[in-house]
Amino acid sequence: TVWQQAFPNGKSPQRVLVPPSPSAIFLVLTVRSGFEEQAKDFLGEIAGLTRTVGFRSREDDLSCVTGIGADLWDRMFTAPRPPGLHPFIEQRGDVHTAPSTPGDLLFHIRARRIDLCFELARLIRDALAGAVDVADEVHGFRYFDERDILGFVDGTENPEDQGAVDAVFLQPDDFTEELAEAGSDVAAAAGGAAAAYAGSTYAIVQKYTHDMTGWEALSVEEQEAAFGRTKLSDVEFAEEDKAPNSHLVLNSIEDEDGNDREVVRDNMVFGSVGSEEYGTYFIAYAADVTTTEQMLENMFIGDPVGTYDRILDFSTAETGTLFFIPSQDFLDDPDGELAEAGLGIGAEPAAEAESTADGDGGAASVPVD
Ligand code: HEM
Repeated sequence: TVWQQAFPNGKSPQRVLVPPSPSAIFLVLTVRSGFEEQAKDFLGEIAGLTRTVGFRSREDDLSCVTGIGADLWDRMFTAPRPPGLHPFIEQRGDVHTAPSTPGDLLFHIRARRIDLCFELARLIRDALAGAVDVADEVHGFRYFDERDILGFVDGTENPEDQGAVDAVFLQPDDFTEELAEAGSDVAAAAGGAAAAYAGSTYAIVQKYTHDMTGWEALSVEEQEAAFGRTKLSDVEFAEEDKAPNSHLVLNSIEDEDGNDREVVRDNMVFGSVGSEEYGTYFIAYAADVTTTEQMLENMFIGDPVGTYDRILDFSTAETGTLFFIPSQDFLDDPDGELAEAGLGIGAEPAAEAESTADGDGGAASVPVD
């Protein structure tokens, strides 16, 4: 398939673009101060661990995408952050808020069977025992015909094939301009960044819980108006029939040339009947993370301001975290890739890095052992 093709610079992406999987685990970890080197070394072991579990049932197609948060990047590397990597930007609307919550490492584990996901999550946690804390763990499942728990088919308008590759993966050219704008030393490193970061992407994750009682009190017509699609048959409303505060209107965005700005989503349902928790775990991958951020602004602040997404009246964002998803080559050997690109040893730390550490232990420049 297209996504497996090597990139111009020969880097392989991680397995971000996979067919919809029936099961997923979203594991978000924070790395304890002083354990940055251990976490970095572990990045190179993930592919092997995934093979260990996945090979035992290859037809069930286990995959794991690993992401690195902004804070951990500053603690692990002296190289400047990839241009789109920063803490999740909180969106505080008049009525609803998308909070920004901690996360150093993301593991997006998918398979046809939950036991494979669970085994890999367990091995990851065991390998990092004592070095990390679990910030969030969600076991997601596919619900009927790709529906979210609100009852609507979710994922229909995702880009596919080359469109998905273009939406998701950074190309070498993507860096030069942005880094040049960032100035001086960073600009000099732009060529290196292109080499090190092509084939990578960004993920934004959010855990939502739903007010199912309120949602189910709506008529089907009112629910359909909230999304802008029919419920049973998943047909998109005609443009003139879509409400300005519908999910589809607020999330259909274009660049200045009128091209669609797209992301690739892979939401999963989760829940617990005992605690009456009904949720959607939202994940979107994008080469240009400002695309996802613009969608979030439209949903929470509104477009125009105040016209916020109707589905938020029944959906509460509990978490929000942004991760850099490096290429597989980078994950296998981060220091090697950075050094080869001229971004590693000797490079000036990014300006933001200085504010990260709590004085000791946290800074990448402090030896861990
Ligand atoms: C479309 C559900 C959150 C971006 C949709 C659709 C559903 C849905 C049912 C229509 C079918 C489809 O094309 O997938 C949900 C639920 C959410 C959620 C239940 C959380 C409670 C988000 C967030 C974003 C987002 C946070 C972006 C930051 C999009 C986009 C589309 C879409 C871009 C396609 C719009 C189009 O081009 O037609 N979503 N979504 N969604 N959603 Fe969401």
